[in-house]
Amino acid sequence: MTPITIKQPFIITIFGASGDLAKLMLFPALYSLYEQGRLPVDFYIIGFARTKKTDSAFQQDFIASVKAAAGGVVNESALKKLSERVRYFTGEYGRSADFESYAKFLKSLKLPANSLHLAYFSVPSVAYKPIIENLAALSKSGLYHIRLILEKPFGVDKQSAEDIFHFALQHFEEEKFYLLDHYLGKPAVRSIMHLRESNRILSHMMRGYEIANVQITAFEEFGVKERASYFDQVGTIKDFVQSHLMQILALATMSLPIDKNAQSLQREKYGVLAAIECPHDPKNIVIGQYQGYTKENGVPQDSHTETFAALRLFIDRLDWFGVPIYVRTGKRLAKKQTYVVVELKKFPFQAANEPPNRLIFELYPFEQAHLTLLNKQEDPAALQEIIASHSVACNVKAKCLPPGHAPLLLDVLRGEKKYFLSFPEIIASWDVVDKISALIADNKIKLELYQAGSSGPAAHLRLPARDGFNWYSLPS
Ligand SMILES: NC(=O)c1ccc[n+]([C@@H]2O[C@H](COP(=O)([O-])OP(=O)(O)OC[C@H]3O[C@@H](n4cnc5c(N)ncnc54)[C@H](OP(=O)(O)O)[C@@H]3O)[C@@H](O)[C@H]2O)c1
Repeated sequence: MTPITIKQPFIITIFGASGDLAKLMLFPALYSLYEQGRLPVDFYIIGFARTKKTDSAFQQDFIASVKAAAGGVVNESALKKLSERVRYFTGEYGRSADFESYAKFLKSLKLPANSLHLAYFSVPSVAYKPIIENLAALSKSGLYHIRLILEKPFGVDKQSAEDIFHFALQHFEEEKFYLLDHYLGKPAVRSIMHLRESNRILSHMMRGYEIANVQITAFEEFGVKERASYFDQVGTIKDFVQSHLMQILALATMSLPIDKNAQSLQREKYGVLAAIECPHDPKNIVIGQYQGYTKENGVPQDSHTETFAALRLFIDRLDWFGVPIYVRTGKRLAKKQTYVVVELKKFPFQAANEPPNRLIFELYPFEQAHLTLLNKQEDPAALQEIIASHSVACNVKAKCLPPGHAPLLLDVLRGEKKYFLSFPEIIASWDVVDKISALIADNKIKLELYQAGSSGPAAHLRLPARDGFNWYSLPS
């Protein structure tokens, strides 16, 4: 199979191109698409920001960022050629005169009339509205074929997200928006759905009626690094649970879409997210902070921001009635690991000490799916656990892109919206998170301190214990 390539000419404008996301993620992603020969003959990459910079200074930044991301190992000639397509435009996001000059500047590039215009919002969400408004004015006078890419976190709560979406939809049709969570650019996350839709055996197993519980674990070894000032304002629940883990939860528990359309998939994910029963009982929530967090650069000494969270959730639907979903995530833990465990119900005649069948989607460190089966001899000591594992990593070298932004940018260029979020999904996720945040703000949940390098606060073990289960740990 030949890799997906793009033929239609395009311009991608990165608003906020002077910032971290552009340097760390977007420039390297564009380089990998170019280096793999997936981009058309005609295209330009434009950086738009308030910081004054020349084209050549920006091209140097672009080259340096790509090299830093690749650990210095790059195709020098491809990178040089690519940098010749890179331009910089200094402008204010809210000044219409700057956008008129920007439109003239785009025209001067003389790309064919059918060229796509991608607008990437690599700015804090306070800058979304002025950019949307100015782009909308330009789109009436010639900036056609526009696609707008908005990056998670999509506001800070349900109300701010609704406010952004309401404003956005007054200016552009919904189909123009690509709401991006880079987790959906990871092949291992996508494989949760691919495995389900390609294997009837799994689609039978993964119905709520068959399942005892679902567990989602996403542990990080590092702390807040240089993102302390951003992170301290939001905390783990808004930063990690609201989009990344809610999306994984939805992919694992949704009903299979009836076809391969993006809208059908988004509808099924929404169906689960909107049915998540919010944990009114504070006993279903554990939050923690690693010791030493308040001494990190940029973190206030009296910060109560959570760096760990564990939740016990339910899906208020007949097919998932009574099936607990446990979610846990945190920073500064013993090991970086991300995995989803689906534990199947046992037969009533099975002994308590017999392990259940488990289907495990491992996302990190390895991208693998595991299925455990049991073989029991008459002698109870001879219980055999058969573990079938298979890699779900991209294994066709010519088709492999670095996970995250590169596959998603390719999707935007070809108009594929399957791995982007819908407005209702985001609102439904905020609804859950806002209710948890309200309990935390009301001091209903104690912040537990935990040791850096540990497995998080011991209190989180009690969540599955309430239902007679344990957290499952991947064998080391
Ligand atoms: N960094 C990440 O790893 C990451 C991961 C996931 C999501 N995101 C999201 O992606 C977006 C960009 O992230 P980032 O880390 O690159 O952000 P950033 O560095 O804080 O901001 C990007 C650029 O936006 C402009 N800017 C900053 N504050 C502004 C303000 N108050 N009003 C208008 N413009 C402002 C600045 O450019 P000028 O001053 O030159 O105009 C800045 O260089 C954010 O929404 C962030 O939440 C980031």
